[in-house]
Amino acid sequence: MPQINKLRYSANISKDTKVDAFAIGLFSDLKLDEDTKSFDKSVGKAISNSIESKLFDGSKDQIKIVPTNNSKVILLYGLGKRDDLSSELIRKAGGLISKTAISNKISSLSIVFPLKTQDDYLHQSFAEGIVLGSYQFNELKTEGKKFDLKSLTLVGVEKKPCEKGLAIGTSVCFARDIENRPGNIATPSHLALNAKNIAKNSKVKTKVFERQRFTKMGMGALSAVASGTEVPPKFIIMEYYNAPKKVKPKVLVGKGLTFDSGGISIKPASKMDEMKFDMCGAGVVLGAMRAVSILKPKINLIGIIPSTENMSGDKAYRPGDVLTAYNGKTIEVLNTDAEGRLILADALSYASKHYNPEFILDFATLTGAVVVALGHIATGIMGTSEDLIQEIKRSSKITDEKVWEFPLWQEYLDQVKSQIADVKNLGSAGQAGTIAGGAFLKSFVKEGIPWCHFDIAGTAWGDRNLSYHNKGTATGEVIRLVIDLLGI
Ligand code: BES
Ligand code: ZN
Ligand code: ZN
Repeated sequence: MPQINKLRYSANISKDTKVDAFAIGLFSDLKLDEDTKSFDKSVGKAISNSIESKLFDGSKDQIKIVPTNNSKVILLYGLGKRDDLSSELIRKAGGLISKTAISNKISSLSIVFPLKTQDDYLHQSFAEGIVLGSYQFNELKTEGKKFDLKSLTLVGVEKKPCEKGLAIGTSVCFARDIENRPGNIATPSHLALNAKNIAKNSKVKTKVFERQRFTKMGMGALSAVASGTEVPPKFIIMEYYNAPKKVKPKVLVGKGLTFDSGGISIKPASKMDEMKFDMCGAGVVLGAMRAVSILKPKINLIGIIPSTENMSGDKAYRPGDVLTAYNGKTIEVLNTDAEGRLILADALSYASKHYNPEFILDFATLTGAVVVALGHIATGIMGTSEDLIQEIKRSSKITDEKVWEFPLWQEYLDQVKSQIADVKNLGSAGQAGTIAGGAFLKSFVKEGIPWCHFDIAGTAWGDRNLSYHNKGTATGEVIRLVIDLLGI
């Protein structure tokens, strides 16, 4: 988690602020406003000198460390053309500032918002970027000195949207921490503990069903996937009611597979370690719930996380087994590695039966095929309601968390029909693997409930080149999109 212990707000830049550095942004027109001009004078023309000497030209993604006439330094960052400014660009600038500060061991920093605007979302995005860019996952290192950005003074920002951006940013970082923890630490119990911690001091209530309980309740799919592990599986429910009870709740479901070995249909050894990230769907739900517990919107929201490992062994479920899910449908298992859709089947059935939801969204690192189709750039989505999908695409554009829709045509639904049971957990060999996942899940959402599935296997971690992500680690992707979709 970012460790920004001290946070102050200020209307103007002052060289006397007790910080080690100032971050000042300029567009490529290199125009300084009055406040920046007088600050520049007070620090021996450090800014105008670096412009004149062509050290800095204001192009986007540029950042230069400029000395002043005292011991403090300036991080001069570029924003490119004024007309091209967007919330994503300013989020990236925020990320670049905090990342650069940390890599240069600057622990206290005054960051100046680079323009005058009433657009709240620009202020929010800047704050998101600063927090996300300061994220490091170093809790498992015992050697080497850890370095954090400890004290921040934000200059010229609108406080309210900025606080919202900070709450969203820290919630994404909270999710990243959980997602980055390996399978021996981030167990189903660890996810349940985090759900309970969110519930402390907030309106969120958490219920956890243990193996015996959910098996007795009829969750035959989760129970089968969990049969190969001694590590206790959990079915986690988080309820947040802050609108009248008659208002239909929205439901978020997240795949909480804390380690996916593939089970008896075992995965190849190379990159199997990455399957510690197979609970990133659960991370989305926990991150969104944490943000909601802080921002307290007037909505009703439910989070559901089915959680287990997928292991092999003499107690494990087998290819060929037929399972009965919570909604009574039977499932033929053709590959024990297609386990995510199985545990989601029970969770979607549970959500459909117990909450008359306005809509259900599920988040899952479900298929390798989505990485082939969309790379690490976009999340694959598919669902049953055109209106809901349109809303999701709108939130995706706003937050710049990219989604791409796949079709759920009848032909694809036919491909998951089984000869001996209602459905099978595989589609047609070598074809449309991501859609087969969605087509399978559709059977477990009650007719009439708007539903959308997010396959985040490509976006939950990976090699995005963004200032506010760290390569190879969890991104917390789609939490920002979900917060926007919830109208917060
Ligand atoms: N957790 C994996 C999906 C995955 C693979 C996510 C690679 C990220 C990177 C999932 O449980 C799985 O194994 N899916 C199989 C499905 C197949 C057996 C139909 C896959 O994608 O190979
Ligand atoms: Zn799998
Ligand atoms: Zn999996």
